Amino acid sequence: MSSPTSPVSTTADDVADRTGGARLAVRSLRKVYSGRGEPVEAIADLTFEIRPGELVCVVGPSGAGKTTLLRCMAGLMPATSGELVLGESAITGPPQGMAVVLQEYGRSLFPWMTVAQNVELPLKEKGVGRSRRTELVRETLAAVGLGDVAGSYPWQLSGGMQQRVAIARAVAYEPQVLLMDEPFAAVDAQTRFELEDLVRTLWKRLGITVVFVTHDIDEAIYLGERVLVLSARPTVVLEDVAVGLGAERDQLETRGDAEFARLRTHVYELVQQAKKGVRSLAEAHLTHPAAVGVEPGGASGPPRVR
Ligand SMILES: Nc1ncnc2c1ncn2[C@@H]1O[C@H](COP(=O)(O)OP(=O)(O)O)[C@@H](O)[C@H]1O
Ligand SMILES: [Mg+2]
Repeated sequence: MSSPTSPVSTTADDVADRTGGARLAVRSLRKVYSGRGEPVEAIADLTFEIRPGELVCVVGPSGAGKTTLLRCMAGLMPATSGELVLGESAITGPPQGMAVVLQEYGRSLFPWMTVAQNVELPLKEKGVGRSRRTELVRETLAAVGLGDVAGSYPWQLSGGMQQRVAIARAVAYEPQVLLMDEPFAAVDAQTRFELEDLVRTLWKRLGITVVFVTHDIDEAIYLGERVLVLSARPTVVLEDVAVGLGAERDQLETRGDAEFARLRTHVYELVQQAKKGVRSLAEAHLTHPAAVGVEPGGASGPPRVR
C-alpha cells in the first residue's frame, strides 16, 4: 500500500478548497464530574485561545483531563463553569463546523456500512446534496490513500486504514475545526508517522484549525505549531510552548533537528513535573528552561522567531 502522503499531493487540486479555520477560545473552563460517588474535579481552570488555522497539540499526564477538555470543546458535555467559544458563538452542543476524531476509531465506524458509506453519513446529516457527497467521498478517500477500498467494510481493513477512514470522514465534512483525541495511539509506529504527515498535509491544504491531543511528546512537537502542556488533575495550563520548527516538517530531518531535541527535553521535563503535581512554571524545577529565541503564541499573536 502506498504512503498516504503521496496521494495527498497528487489530489491537491481536487480538495483544494480551503474551508478556513475558526478561532477557538477556552476561558476559565472548569469541569467537575458529579455522579453517584465523590465528585471528581477534572479541570480546575483552563484559559487559552487557538487562532484560526492554527495546529495546536495538547499533552499532559494520563488522567490530566485531556479527553474531558476535548469533549467539552466538542460540545459533547457541558462545562461546569467557564466559556467555550467557536468563532463568535458559545459552544452549547456539537457545533456545525466541527469534526472530532477519537481514539477508539474501531467503535466510531459502522461495521454494516462500507468505507464510502461511513464517510458519506455525516454529509447526509449535514444536508449536502448527492453529487457533492459523492465527490467529497471520492476526493477525501483518495487523499488518505484509500481510494481503492471505498467498497470494503471497516472490519476488512487494518487498524491504520480504519483510522484513515475516520480522518477522511472528518475531513470530508469540511470542518472549520478538527479535534483529535489520541487518534494514533493504537496504530504501529510506521503507520503513525504516515498519519502524522497526513494530518499536517491536510491541515496545510485546508487551512483548518486543529487541536490534537496526545500523550506522545515527540508527536506533539513534530505536529504542533504550539504545545499546551497540562498539569495533573485538576488541570491548568502549565506552559504554552511555541514550536519554532517551521512549516515544512520531515520525519527524519525534523526529528534530528537540535531544536526538536531541545523542545522534547523541555516538554518532557514539564510533563515529569506535572506528574509530580507541579501546577505552575514558578514551582517547576527545570534544568532545560523554555525555548530560547521563540516567543510563545497564545492570544497575543502568532509565534515570532527572532
Ligand atoms: N464520566 C466520568 N465520571 C467521573 N470521572 C471521570 C469521568 N470521565 C473522566 N473522569 C475522570 O476525570 C479525570 C480526567 O480524565 P480524562 O479527561 O479522561 O483524562 P486524560 O484524557 O487526560 O487521560 C480522571 O481522573 C478520570 O478518572
Ligand atoms: Mg484521554
